[in-house]
Amino acid sequence: MNKAVELRKVSRTYTLHGNVVRALDEVDLEIPAGILASIVGASGSGKTTLLNVIGGLDRPTSGEIYLHGEGMHALSEEGLVKHRRKLLGYIFQSYNLIPNLSAIENVELPLEFARYPSRERRKRAEQCLQMAELGPARWRHRPAQLSGGEQQRVAIARALANDPKVILADEPTGNLDSKTGKQILKLLRNLVEQEHRTIILISHDSDVAAATDLTAELTDGAVTRIVRRDHSA
Ligand SMILES: Nc1ncnc2c1ncn2[C@@H]1O[C@H](COP(=O)(O)OP(=O)(O)OP(=O)(O)O)[C@@H](O)[C@H]1O
Ligand SMILES: [Mg+2]
Repeated sequence: MNKAVELRKVSRTYTLHGNVVRALDEVDLEIPAGILASIVGASGSGKTTLLNVIGGLDRPTSGEIYLHGEGMHALSEEGLVKHRRKLLGYIFQSYNLIPNLSAIENVELPLEFARYPSRERRKRAEQCLQMAELGPARWRHRPAQLSGGEQQRVAIARALANDPKVILADEPTGNLDSKTGKQILKLLRNLVEQEHRTIILISHDSDVAAATDLTAELTDGAVTRIVRRDHSA
């Protein structure tokens, strides 16, 4: 099995006003490459913390994290930033687009950070917007001039810009109505099937989780259940 993500006894504790919160408690988890996976659990169970430590946005207090075999826990801050840029894309519930940039400029931004040659940026951004199925008529719009579903497509295009192997999404359909949410979920499914990427999403919606290939359920910072489903039929 080609593993996208491997966690070994990963813990993350926060100390706040003298109280220790165990947001993650010795989590062991393996996610194969090329699947759509989900993380579910009650509010406060540690879902966002788990996604953030997988994505290198947060560091575990202890334990080991491997992304495609690379030990992320052992990297320096600089090394971590480099690997994040190479391997990972992020999608958020509230899209997190830059309000005064157009859709296409939002997608170009990570390419600029990655020092992508400026002549090729526009072309790559257009490709990504096409992969995210946002029509060219919307590319010059600012986020406020787009619907929620369209904004999430821009955010997905931005996540695709650096051609990441793994995409992490914290409640990507959480702000959308159920029909738009289904369209976004279908798009994520297509990105997994056609491009052999791994997508890990968090959801509160049991229908969303049921449409994924693997669900990890968190309870009080621990993985208490793994459900695997076969969607190949
Ligand atoms: N920066 C922080 N400082 C202190 N405690 C934190 C911090 N971030 C998270 N926590 C605590 O860690 C636990 C897990 O939080 P987390 O945000 O991962 O939950 P979640 O499952 O994503 O919840 P939700 O469904 O509400 O988004 C919670 O008890 C939370 O209060
Ligand atoms: Mg959360």
